[in-house]
Amino acid sequence: MRIDIITLFPEMFEGPFGHSIVKRAKDKGIVEIHTHNLRDYSTNKHKKVDDAPYAGKGGMLMTPQPIADCIDALKKDREYDEIFYTSPDGELLDQNVVNQYSDYRNIIILCGHYKGIDERIREHYITKEFSIGDYVLSGGELAAMILVDSVVRIIPGAIGDEMSALSDSFQDGLVAPPAYTRPKNFRGWEVPEILLSGNEKKIDEWKHEQAVIRTKARRPGLLED
Ligand code: ADE
Repeated sequence: MRIDIITLFPEMFEGPFGHSIVKRAKDKGIVEIHTHNLRDYSTNKHKKVDDAPYAGKGGMLMTPQPIADCIDALKKDREYDEIFYTSPDGELLDQNVVNQYSDYRNIIILCGHYKGIDERIREHYITKEFSIGDYVLSGGELAAMILVDSVVRIIPGAIGDEMSALSDSFQDGLVAPPAYTRPKNFRGWEVPEILLSGNEKKIDEWKHEQAVIRTKARRPGLLED
């Protein structure tokens, strides 16, 4: 998969994409991530990328020219499955949509700033707007990182143990069951006996039961869906 990120702050991505699973996926050639500084595409002599909205009060908008030129340049070289825009009023990201996006070959993510982008870019370029939650961030970079991380980790080969992505919370519509590791007894607190039994069928049943109990308690909405 190739991911092109259009941003005013390309340096923000160096940390999150330089570690852990995303880094490993890049090193293995499973994903290619390219950041593009929007300012480089501005034809304004001061490299301005924002302006006041018509008939608006307070706040600035990202101007259409640098965004359109940047996307046009990218589209010249390849076709894109989706051009994402980070926006609090976009479709809420969940495991379902993340699973779908992990099949894409090429995507663009445009990171929003200020009061957002000129509506004509939304109409003529953006194919999907997404939100990471009902709260407002100071920019779309963190949302873009979350989309990339959640998508990349489920691309086959990104995680060493293939099963582990499949047993994530939400993959079967439930949150994950409780999990334990060594030692068996920690400060007098025991690991549930069933997990030490070696009876795989019984263990799977127990895990499912626990996942249902936990989902009912913590995220009952998932069961209604
Ligand atoms: N930009 C600002 N807030 C956002 C959110 N909640 N999700 C995605 N992009 C955003």
